[in-house]
Amino acid sequence: MSESTTERLRVLTGDTPTGSLHLGHYVGSIENRLQMQEEYDCFFFVANWHALTTRADQTDDIRADTISIVKDWLACGIDPNKATLFVHSEVPAIAELTWYFSMLVGYGRLMKNPTVKDEIRVKGLGDEYSFGFLLYPIGQIADILAFRPAFVPVGEDQVPHIEMTREIARRFNQYYCKIDGSVPDEEHAQRGGVFPIPEARIGRVARLTGIDGKNKMSKSLGNAIHLSDTPKQVQKKCNKIFTGRGSMDDPPVLENNTILEYLDIFMPDKARAAELNEAYAASKIGDGDLKKEVGAAMNALLEPIREKRATISDDDVIDVLKDGCRKANAVAEQTLWKAKQAVRYDFFKREIVLG
Ligand code: TRP
Repeated sequence: MSESTTERLRVLTGDTPTGSLHLGHYVGSIENRLQMQEEYDCFFFVANWHALTTRADQTDDIRADTISIVKDWLACGIDPNKATLFVHSEVPAIAELTWYFSMLVGYGRLMKNPTVKDEIRVKGLGDEYSFGFLLYPIGQIADILAFRPAFVPVGEDQVPHIEMTREIARRFNQYYCKIDGSVPDEEHAQRGGVFPIPEARIGRVARLTGIDGKNKMSKSLGNAIHLSDTPKQVQKKCNKIFTGRGSMDDPPVLENNTILEYLDIFMPDKARAAELNEAYAASKIGDGDLKKEVGAAMNALLEPIREKRATISDDDVIDVLKDGCRKANAVAEQTLWKAKQAVRYDFFKREIVLG
């Protein structure tokens, strides 16, 4: 039967372990999660299967990055008593659902996904991507649908994956649960579809520019300020921000200037930010003054995170993940069973026991 209506709506999202998190993650998603954990039944996970798609030869690093991301989450205030934190390689139902969903996506449709195309281009994969790389968007659909969430908080670049997820959820419900193609998305679940049609939720800042002043902040592009950077590193990186002017004799650039973007995003005192903005536009203060202010604002945000991070051990992370994986398996197994019943592959019930 359907879950009782008094239960909180479910939210699910994940991060691929690529190293420690940066400010783009913070304003694009972590902040959002901190709010959501108060209101919704949240599932946050480390997408360590996804890391394999391009780093199958670097599993020591993937393991370290997995632990590091969870430390970042905890340091930022994601609370394992409120949200379920897990690692997706310990939730086998996700892999099994991937098998069923992979039959519902055409190869041509997959290759038209702009995020897949972008990744092949940006990472310079050429024709040399693995078969598993192409499987990851289907895996992502399974990550999401295994938890039957109402919302999926993500960055803008992930929206094409959520679109595909919605298509597959509809198709599954049509093929196996007799949901007519004309049924509106919000009625799928109540009419007996196994999968509700989830919605993407974009964070406060959909895209944070990196310190190069051009590309989206990203560890691999070397333009990121990491949550674990020291105060000195943060200020040094701020000093390098490209503000668009050739020399200090040129007038300040007021459009698409990354230091102004950061001022707006990271200065909590909005009146002060407006004042600085005005002084900068009037050339009363220069790039260096703003960089100092922005660096200080970033450090004020990061200081408590750094302090808390230093108190969290690897063992603490493993304990949190074990507890979270148990809870995640309870939900995902229930979904898988419903899906197997719908597909008529429901031969035997089973239980997952973590050692
Ligand atoms: N692909 C996402 C990223 O690289 C991470 C991810 C994997 C994810 N599975 C997900 C995000 C499911 C949201 C929901 O950022």
